[in-house]
Amino acid sequence: MNKLKRFYELLITTLFGAIPTLFLGPKLRNVIYRTIFARLGKSVYIQDGVELVNAYCAEIGDGVHIFRGVRFNAAGENNHIRLESGVALERNVDIGCLDHTNITIKKGTFIGSDVCITGPGDIVIGERCLIAAHCGIYANNHRFHNIEEPITVQGISRKGIVIEDDCWLGHAVTVLDGVTIGKGSVIGAGAVVTKDIPPYSVAVGVPAKVIKNRLVDGEPNQGIKFSDLVKQSLTTSN
Ligand SMILES: CC(C)(COP(=O)(O)OP(=O)(O)OC[C@H]1O[C@@H](n2cnc3c(N)ncnc32)[C@H](O)[C@@H]1OP(=O)(O)O)[C@@H](O)C(=O)NCCC(=O)NCCS
Repeated sequence: MNKLKRFYELLITTLFGAIPTLFLGPKLRNVIYRTIFARLGKSVYIQDGVELVNAYCAEIGDGVHIFRGVRFNAAGENNHIRLESGVALERNVDIGCLDHTNITIKKGTFIGSDVCITGPGDIVIGERCLIAAHCGIYANNHRFHNIEEPITVQGISRKGIVIEDDCWLGHAVTVLDGVTIGKGSVIGAGAVVTKDIPPYSVAVGVPAKVIKNRLVDGEPNQGIKFSDLVKQSLTTSN
């Protein structure tokens, strides 16, 4: 990213990034941040205190909610972040790219507070997923084969992560590089997902093991509606 563009981004986010909702901050940002995002959809709610580094590579769909403390860091080369319509990022969600990384979060997905979604390495999170607070999705591993050198200089490997549509990851799930979590799967709180999970699985533990399949062991739907989660965040965080 060139220095002039970064200076402009810093200027805009410093001038407008801290204006609270009471003083129409989200409405102002919905207009002015169009000059720093690659695309900013209609009715995007960006709360005060959101940190952006190289938002020029980020496309934000209609009706996206981005809450206080969220950080996008796409400072390196050839990065692309795409949040499709209706995505919500709760407080302190951290999306980092480093270099040559595509991160896509598809329609209607809810990302809970303090979740880390981190490249380098591509990450796709499907439609209508629910990623609970404190999850970590890390699309790379540090190399560490050489004991003569610090791990920090040995580089990384990267394969990428895919979480298919309609998955629910419970509190503090960690997803490691190279994993695909199949459509409609549920991952229990605290699990570490090290291998692919077939569609409609329920998997728990460290490492995560499939204990059920929803196609076989399903129950009728009941309880809280997905859209209620965003409404709840809006009413409690201004
Ligand atoms: C996995 C989960 C969804 C329950 O699914 P379920 O199909 O109803 O599973 P059950 O409660 O019948 O438990 C099945 C077995 O898995 C175990 N288990 C359930 N959740 C577990 C977890 N997170 N980690 C380890 N083991 C777990 C149970 O102890 C039980 O073991 P047992 O057969 O030896 O007794 C639930 O336990 C969970 O982890 N929910 C996440 C809640 C959360 O993080 N909410 C955040 C807000 S969205």
